[in-house]
Amino acid sequence: MTTLPEAVSLRRTFAIISHPDAGKTTLTEKLLLFGGAIQMAGAVRARGEQRRARSDWMAIERERGISVTASVMSFEHSGLFFNLLDTPGHEDFSEDTYRTLTAVDSAVMVLDAAKGIETQTRKLFEVCRLRDVPIVTFVNKVDREGREPFDLLDEIEKTLALDLCPLTWPIGMGRDLKGVYDLTADQVLLFEQSRGDHIPEGIDMPLEDSRLDELVGADAAAKLREEVALIRGACPPFDLDAFRSGNLSPVFFGSALRNFGVRELLNGIGRLSPPPRPQPTDVRTIDPLEEKVTGFVFKIQANMDPNHRDRIAFFRLCSGRFQRGMKLKHVRSGKLMAIVNPVFFLARDRELAEEAFPGDIMGIPNHGTLRIGDSLSESEDIRFTGIPSFAPEILRRVRLDDPMKAKQLRKALEDLAEEGVSQLFKPLSGSSWIVGVVGQLQFDVIANRIDSEYGLKAGFEDAPFETARWVHCEDKLLVKRFAEANTSSMAEDRDGALVFLARNSWTLGRVQQDFPEVRFSATREQY
Ligand code: G4P
Repeated sequence: MTTLPEAVSLRRTFAIISHPDAGKTTLTEKLLLFGGAIQMAGAVRARGEQRRARSDWMAIERERGISVTASVMSFEHSGLFFNLLDTPGHEDFSEDTYRTLTAVDSAVMVLDAAKGIETQTRKLFEVCRLRDVPIVTFVNKVDREGREPFDLLDEIEKTLALDLCPLTWPIGMGRDLKGVYDLTADQVLLFEQSRGDHIPEGIDMPLEDSRLDELVGADAAAKLREEVALIRGACPPFDLDAFRSGNLSPVFFGSALRNFGVRELLNGIGRLSPPPRPQPTDVRTIDPLEEKVTGFVFKIQANMDPNHRDRIAFFRLCSGRFQRGMKLKHVRSGKLMAIVNPVFFLARDRELAEEAFPGDIMGIPNHGTLRIGDSLSESEDIRFTGIPSFAPEILRRVRLDDPMKAKQLRKALEDLAEEGVSQLFKPLSGSSWIVGVVGQLQFDVIANRIDSEYGLKAGFEDAPFETARWVHCEDKLLVKRFAEANTSSMAEDRDGALVFLARNSWTLGRVQQDFPEVRFSATREQY
């Protein structure tokens, strides 16, 4: 039987971060191919199509050709167990993405060789940095004309203030792409040998070997020697500790589309990326090797199957050996929950999770008991920290076409808020709900889902508020005085926490000045 330390050492839980179009979907597909999780390229898209065909609540996803839901895919390669958490690429859904990043131990940053760092790459990188998540960089699309590799590295280093260490290096680019050179193994990987599903093995080839000139041409060989000498002179050797603390990123070059350099990337993740890391809680740090089972919910997805109003909580196991049927304490309510039908997500299927180890992601079906940020624990009362709710950047009042259906609307809005799609505020005066989101597109998703899943026609109209801040203050009397002085701007979130809805940044500045003892926060940790 696998011991807990063995199982932990074999797990790699990671996400891919990128700007839309950099090649995340294509790379995911190719990674799964190595894991034998799918047989044919195109299956990630095909799987998407199937899912969309089954449940058309994400009609909007189909219409706009974007992916808005994050999912998890697990696969095995070279004796290691990889859990790949997909993150939505569209910037409007960044909140979901942020939370997904709380559940990973490392990330792969995919860049388009022609574009370098783009806005969304940068935003997601910043989130990883907040949590010191180690980052592996993959420069994609080297089969197309791209920018000079040294230029790219320079841009990454400067804009992200991140040290880099190239572990592979392209030999030419675009039409002149001959291959990549593996700087650790001193091997050449030839591009022309990479066709369809055929993935060439690297050829042992020290740089000074004259056969290199025959393989890639004298000019390309000379350029490679020169560039490698520059890299070896300028970049310090790869430092595992600096990588694992989030300060240095190994860089791989390749083409996801042509499945070139992807195996080297995957092997790199396996070799370098950390196994499940200790996780912070409000009491102490939990080590994955602790025997008692603990973990947290980072995502809820409701109505995945419209025929059974199911609700899946995505749960990251942080310590201990989980066994199906186990009773875990739901720390927020203090109640015990028997986890009888947890599932693993494989590329195309779900499978009952009989046993799980730290780093694994299980789906726990439930009827609304589990919320984002909830901790489950076999013994102690601990709450995992750092799973934030962000202040919404756009607020709208909900308009219901049929006022008789107010109760159903409330249920729908609460369900979606629980899923983390939106935030819901109930003004202390007045009767209509205010919905807050981080990006405009979310309103379309909400209206669409309210219609298709709950049969309600609702719309959104302007609310006189620009942003929201959670209100914190020890002095309850002062809070009361503050609320009374600002009645028309006060609301509660769905947990009853007090929120100040600000008309604009000026009003926010003014109340901060008037009530210096009150703290206004743009994030709220959920529990
Ligand atoms: P995303 O998930 O990050 O948004 O990117 P995705 O994988 O969907 O890739 C975006 C586009 O870039 C796709 O082309 C894809 O085929 C292409 N692409 C991805 N990796 C590579 C690569 O290594 N080399 C080249 N040349 N192209 C690459 P598309 O035309 O938008 O879509 P499709 O018609 O191919 O599906």
